[in-house]
This record gives sequence, C-alpha cells and structure tokens, in this order.
Amino acid sequence: MTALGKVAVLGAGNIGGSLAQRLAELDIAREVVLVDIVEGLPQGKALDIRESAPILGFSTRVTGATSLDAVAGADVVVETAGLARKPGMSRSDLLEKNASIVKGHAEAVRTSAPDAVVVVVTNPVDVMTYYFRQVSGLAPARVFGESGTLDTARFRTFVAEALHVAPRDVTGFVLGTHGDTMVPILSLTSVSGVPLSKLLTAERIAALVERTKQGGGEIVSLLKTGSAFYAPTAAQAELVTAIATDAHRLVPVAAHLHGEFGEKDVCIGVPVVLGRQGVERVVEVDLTPAERAAFSASVEAVRSDLAILAKAPA
Ligand code: LAC
Repeated sequence: MTALGKVAVLGAGNIGGSLAQRLAELDIAREVVLVDIVEGLPQGKALDIRESAPILGFSTRVTGATSLDAVAGADVVVETAGLARKPGMSRSDLLEKNASIVKGHAEAVRTSAPDAVVVVVTNPVDVMTYYFRQVSGLAPARVFGESGTLDTARFRTFVAEALHVAPRDVTGFVLGTHGDTMVPILSLTSVSGVPLSKLLTAERIAALVERTKQGGGEIVSLLKTGSAFYAPTAAQAELVTAIATDAHRLVPVAAHLHGEFGEKDVCIGVPVVLGRQGVERVVEVDLTPAERAAFSASVEAVRSDLAILAKAPA
C-alpha cells in the first residue's frame, strides 16, 4: 500500500530518525525524506533505514537531505526539528529558539508544499502548531499538533499497568495543552467500556493522572540527555497513517479552535476526526465543571506563550 507520495520529516534527531523508520515499515508512502541541517546525519540515518528494506520487506524509499528544497511537493510534512528539554526545563522554555527553527520550515512549506498536511511535534507543541499555521498560511485544518495521542497513550499505559489489563483495551482522552496543565478526561476513560471509576479508587486514579502530567519529564530525567521518542513516534505514525488511509480516526490532537469548547484563535488538544485532508472536525465532548475549568486554565497557559512569541523578535 502506498497511499501517500512524499512524507517530509523535518529534523533527523531521535524523533525524526525513529519516525522515518516506523513510516518506512508501515509502507504507506512512496518516499520518506529526512531533512536536517547537520550534514551527513539525515543521509546516514536514511541509508541505514533503507538497508533494512530487504529484510523488512517495505518499498518506501527513504532518503536524507540538508536542503529544505527536499520538502517540495510533500503530501505530509512532520515538523520534529528543534531543541529537546534538558532535566528541569519546561516545554515552554524552548519557545523562542524553536520558533526560529519552525519559522524557516513553515516558509519552505508555504512556497514549495502548499498542499501538504502538516503534523507539528516541536515543543511547546500547541504554540508551535499555531505558529507554523500562521507562517505557512495553510488552512487551519491542515496543520495540527501531535500531543494528546502521546499523553493519552501514557495514561492508558499507566492504567493498564495498574489494572494488569492489555494496554490496547484502555481508551480515553487527555486534552488541553501538552504541558503541566494537560487535562485527562476521566469521564471518557474506560477499559473496554467499563468506566475507570468502577475499577480503581479516586486516589489511585489521581496518582496515575499526576504521573501522566509528568510523563515526558519522567523520561527526560531518566535519559538525562534528550527526551522521549519511542512512544512519541508511535503516536506520530498513527496520525500519519490516519491521513494516508483517510481513516476518519477520532483522536486527540492539538487543533485550531473556531469557537469549539468556547475558544477561538488558539491551538490546543481536543478530540478531532482525522482524515486525508487533516482535521475534518473537532468533536465537542461534554466536560464536567472541573474538567472545563482545567481546560480553560490549559488554554490560558497556551495563550500566555503565544503572547510571549508575538512580542519576540522575529
Ligand atoms: C514528551 C515530549 C516529546 O512529552 O514532549 O516526551
């Protein structure tokens, strides 16, 4: 199956390299190009992945490039470039530096891949998604951020481990920003339809929620250099597959709001239906008063970073 022509993965760090490998193995694109400014890095990782094709059986051609010319005509662009956190840093600490990297990439997409669907991964992701859309001029539905799929996967993992059940049977939504104010929606969390509240005490659930909020930081502290990439790239590959196969998946991503959840002119984690053209619609689920208050606080955290960015020198 080669549902997509070209996928451009910007940034050939741990995320970019791992994602290129996952996409190649899924065999959903004719070509995956890894792009990075470090000469040799994208080419070396691409060649290494390509040499696994005879064993793994995929046909996707993986290449590497140091020029942004390589994004020309891409059907999907995944923006992974930027600095990762060091222990003790918040994602917002990366704001201005990563914005300067994203800017050039969004300009390249505007001129040479204007029909692309863009998945933004660079942190702080809600803010970078908004910014990428703004600079690229693409339709808001075509630019979204990967965050909730990852945060939800972490929550699902912790719930599955607490209950000794298969991780895939735990479903739920973690909404809001990909940061300290993320909002796990407990009313929508279940194990094969059995509400979480029937399976775990409120105290145990609260502990799992807290661990989820610190999930990225927990891995940064363990690794000491760099941040997570196995679960993030699994989430990104799931989203790219939903685009490639026009799957209409109902998943949490950082999407542009136009009045949904009472918010507009902001990008934040919400449930959406995702297909070949990007975000088909935002799905407005009912939130409890406490969840709604937490979601509003999350929106304010993103707005505060957007305000810093708007004042920063371009
Ligand atoms: C994390 C980073 C990728 O949550 O934001 O691991």
